[in-house]
Amino acid sequence: VPWEEDVSALLDRVPQEVASKIRLVTDVGEGMGLKVFLVGGFVRDLLLGRPNEDVDMVCEGDAVPLLERLSSMGLQVSIHRRYGTGTVRFPDGRKLDLATARREFYEYPVAQPKVQMDSLKHDLYRRDFSVNAMAVSLSPRWGMLVDYFGGRGDLNRGQLRVLHNLSFVEDPTRILRGVRLEGRLGFRMSQDTERLAASCVKGGMLSLLSGPKLRSELELIFRERNPIWAVDRLCGLGAWDAMFPGVPLSIDGLRALRKLDVFVRRLGRDLPPLGEESWLAFLGALLYFGNPWGGRSAMDRLSLSQKERGVLEAILNGLGTLETAIGGKGDIRWSSLCRALDGVNRVVLFAWAGITSRWRVRRRILLYLTRLCKVSPMLSGRDLIDLGVPKGPAVGAMLSRLRFARLDGEVDTLEDERAWVLKRLGDL
Ligand code: CTP
Repeated sequence: VPWEEDVSALLDRVPQEVASKIRLVTDVGEGMGLKVFLVGGFVRDLLLGRPNEDVDMVCEGDAVPLLERLSSMGLQVSIHRRYGTGTVRFPDGRKLDLATARREFYEYPVAQPKVQMDSLKHDLYRRDFSVNAMAVSLSPRWGMLVDYFGGRGDLNRGQLRVLHNLSFVEDPTRILRGVRLEGRLGFRMSQDTERLAASCVKGGMLSLLSGPKLRSELELIFRERNPIWAVDRLCGLGAWDAMFPGVPLSIDGLRALRKLDVFVRRLGRDLPPLGEESWLAFLGALLYFGNPWGGRSAMDRLSLSQKERGVLEAILNGLGTLETAIGGKGDIRWSSLCRALDGVNRVVLFAWAGITSRWRVRRRILLYLTRLCKVSPMLSGRDLIDLGVPKGPAVGAMLSRLRFARLDGEVDTLEDERAWVLKRLGDL
């Protein structure tokens, strides 16, 4: 018998834009006689009072007809019939995952009759940690927490606990997920769970993970706040060495990682968007202090794309040249700084800001990233043509020179810019 608790008051606090979607799916499911539940990370975060917009729902009974009904109501729905799951995408961009509660096929032979009554329990039992294995029933009873495995108690204790001894063996990515959750929530694996994780690592299970799987878990870790904590923890569990034998973690690497984390916290809003590849700055900072073959084998292990490898190679190889170019003691003109940095990938620059041991270089890179790279002339290309610059490459060239002039404080107002351009029409 599961622990039950009325948590409808917590559901009332879910933001309206999310709650209305949960309501809609519940109402339609209820109309079809299905039992509908919230599950997984959403429930965990609901109880912790942490915002989470990734709604995961499960129903006892087939989810496919419910998904079809939602589709016929005009919603965008993708259905995986084979798995009895689907995703509903709402016009405001939010999405909701819906699955048929299911047992693992390997646990139960085909001959086993399907027992609908306890399928939720089995569905939850397949999950990684007890705190992720709770459900909140929505229909027929609204707002009852269903906790078969002591997740509520673990949540209160700040503890991650696997549901059975083979959990990590069945899916070693859970070790990385566990470390990520520990870091994010300030939780800690229980002693038993930690022991199971370490022995799974020792048994070489991480080497069974495919490159893309490992990569996506690592990427998630580096996208979290405080990745240094997680990396350190992976090291403690023996997982880092198991994944990247050629990249021993060094004090310098961890220090670089810490700096990058501080930059993101302090300057986050001023940094230009670093895009999908931003996590490579963190990985690159660690690889930089390893040996070259270690870096290359890590890239192989993670099945990185050519482009991603290019970013990492640039991080590993170009810093010395840059330090010579912009590390001089005297003042440097801002236009010269931009000339040196404009063509360099921003993720690479960001990584170098964390890696370099020269404070001048670091300060200049950060100045560039937070301010200078955003400086542009007030006049547009169109304006230049109106002023008499001939159409074609001359426009780009003049814009670029005008930008340098602005960087060096030669122009300030729109009028300054116009005068500056008119004066140089003769150069063309
Ligand atoms: N899950 C699992 N084993 C995995 C991956 C996921 O058991 N290797 C389960 C977890 O219980 C999780 C659920 O599947 O709650 C949904 O996975 P996902 O959306 O990745 O996890 P969330 O907890 O929702 O997301 P996050 O951890 O990023 O908050």
